[in-house]
Amino acid sequence: MPMSNHAHEKVEKNVGLMAMLIAVAVSFGGLAEIVPLMHQAEAIEPLPGVKPYPALELAGRDVYVREGCYNCHSQMVRTLRFETERYGHYSLAGESVYDHPFQWGSKRTGPDLARVGGRYSDDWHRVHLNQPRDVVPESNMPGFPWLAENSVDGATITRHMKALRAIGDPYTDADIAGAAAAVDGKTELDAVIAYLQDLGKHAPRGG
Ligand code: HEC
Repeated sequence: MPMSNHAHEKVEKNVGLMAMLIAVAVSFGGLAEIVPLMHQAEAIEPLPGVKPYPALELAGRDVYVREGCYNCHSQMVRTLRFETERYGHYSLAGESVYDHPFQWGSKRTGPDLARVGGRYSDDWHRVHLNQPRDVVPESNMPGFPWLAENSVDGATITRHMKALRAIGDPYTDADIAGAAAAVDGKTELDAVIAYLQDLGKHAPRGG
């Protein structure tokens, strides 16, 4: 009996040894997928111009999360032609580096919002968020009339920015010191509109 057959027999008759060798073989597959990602800078680095959210937009993002907008809206343009023709350039990881947690979503009762910045005026959003059917008669989006009545709390947003800096977002001392003044006198409606108008601003142009 040749030597190699003998080795096979040994492995196949020893369950522990075989399990170990299977684990080694499978982990090669995992490494082959993970190691290249670790060296691909664009998978983890912000796109040019992408910065941590300014105070007002961060407050708006908090409102977006609190109100559950992600239950009906994705922020993830897929790499499919009909998507890029409708919304714009497909989403890139480098756009989401300062999104904690990201708002990619998985449900599209309404349109994707990843590229909605600049598509409508602030006034359109004001009317639409208060009562969507005033501008889109067939809309089944709920109104959020209380956003115009709630003011943004400067102390909360300052704490939020400090927390984000602690986990690595590059906020400067000046950003944090100026946060309360930046949201002073602003409503949650102002904040969520500032956030919406920023979406997709740093995405590459075109499909
Ligand atoms: C129950 C589902 C639902 C929820 C929750 C919801 N929306 Fe919508 N949204 C829709 C639908 C449907 C449309 C399309 C009709 C329209 O424009 O009103 C829409 C449209 C929009 C548009 C216009 C997009 C475009 O490209 O025309 C914006 C902006 C928007 N929603 C923002 C929000 C924000 C911000 C929230 C959370 C405060 C929110 N939506 C919550 C269903 C929803």
